[in-house]
Amino acid sequence: MKNSSSCVSLAVCVVLTIILFFSIQSHQHIFPPVISIPNPRLMKGYIALQAWKLAMTSDPNKFTANWNGPHVCNYTGVYCAPAPDDPHILTVAGVDLNHANISGFLPEELGLLKDLSLFHLNSNRFRGTIPASFIHLHLLYELDISNNRFSGQFPCVVLYLPSLKYLDIRFNEFHGDIPEQVFELELDALFLNDNKFESSLPENLGNSPVSVFVAANNDVSGCIPPSLAKMAGTLEEIILSNLGLTGCLRQDIGILKGLKVLDVSFNKLCGPLPESIGEMRNLEQLNVAHNKLIGQVAESICSLPNLKNFTYSFNYLSGESPVCLGLLAKDDSRNCIPNRSLQRSSEECKSHYLHQINCGAITCSRN
Ligand SMILES: *[C@@H]1O[C@H](CO)[C@@H](O)[C@H](O)[C@H]1NC(C)=O
Ligand SMILES: *[C@@H]1O[C@H](CO)[C@@H](O)[C@H](O)[C@H]1NC(C)=O
Ligand SMILES: *[C@@H]1O[C@H](CO)[C@@H](O)[C@H](O)[C@H]1NC(C)=O
Ligand SMILES: *[C@@H]1O[C@H](CO)[C@@H](O)[C@H](O)[C@H]1NC(C)=O
Repeated sequence: MKNSSSCVSLAVCVVLTIILFFSIQSHQHIFPPVISIPNPRLMKGYIALQAWKLAMTSDPNKFTANWNGPHVCNYTGVYCAPAPDDPHILTVAGVDLNHANISGFLPEELGLLKDLSLFHLNSNRFRGTIPASFIHLHLLYELDISNNRFSGQFPCVVLYLPSLKYLDIRFNEFHGDIPEQVFELELDALFLNDNKFESSLPENLGNSPVSVFVAANNDVSGCIPPSLAKMAGTLEEIILSNLGLTGCLRQDIGILKGLKVLDVSFNKLCGPLPESIGEMRNLEQLNVAHNKLIGQVAESICSLPNLKNFTYSFNYLSGESPVCLGLLAKDDSRNCIPNRSLQRSSEECKSHYLHQINCGAITCSRN
């Protein structure tokens, strides 16, 4: 199976991690300070954070200027809390270096921060990938490494973090397949957008219990997996714009009744705009612009009680309910709607209809 290839390296990951685990235990080059550190966990924190500081090549805003000495709990961006399994001792529970603009990489020693529940690195210039030693972070709940320069295949170590709920790796340079295992995780939110992922969206997408899924601006292709309908109980926001998606929007999409944001703009979706979207009573933002949709925009859609912005420009739609004209924020331009301004030429509309016949059948067949 194509999607499993990116995580073939998983086994390798795990083996490497075990080897690294032992090498970290006997770590040589960071000498603990002479002043005593309150407990062994903060000692490990000290080793991890000092190794990380050494792995930083530029810190223009001097975020880590006070990362010296034994009191790791006073380091900027480092948060301590009582250890969950031993409330009498302090341990490093969170790291937040958001917007620090630091460059460097993440050293394996970070795996020593075993009580970490938050790791926020948004908007820095870190390179490389997530160390395999992160497999020890059993309490890690939020992992945000967005807007950095991480690269390589999908960081498979995240598939082994049992507490992970929030995974944000957007705006990096990850490439290759999106592994299907990521949709089996018990996540609340998943952000993969603005990377260079290449494979199609895995068929098991709908197994994911997330409320927010954003995959926009990658180089995937293929169809929206039919399993999407299985997310009816949980999904509130899905953004799949600019992915090169083909095929049609299935009629059963209307079952996603909790959806507030649906954005499939800038793809190659064809066929009609399902009338069932008119059953998504919570929908606030609907963007289907820049596709190849045909047919009528149903009254039920434009009458949705919470719809705040409906963008359907740059398609080949041939009609819209008069109710649509009353929407405050809508864009119906560059379609084939009679008597509306800023529409496509009749030649364009005619030739497009001739090419629509096999929408779905051809474009949805995978492999
Ligand atoms: C760091 O924290 C310790 C213990 O909470 C405190 O005694 C010390 O004064 C702090 N050091 C600095 C430099 O803030
Ligand atoms: C981050 O630091 C680099 C190098 O010092 C600098 O060129 C860049 O403008 C900084 N970016 C931001 C957003 O401050
Ligand atoms: C509606 O959404 C479109 C697409 O996201 C956006 O470009 C436009 O500015 C929005 N319009 C309003 C009035 O918010
Ligand atoms: C289009 O506009 C013309 C002239 O304004 C009108 O006669 C015609 O009935 C309109 N057609 C539709 C489909 O609304």
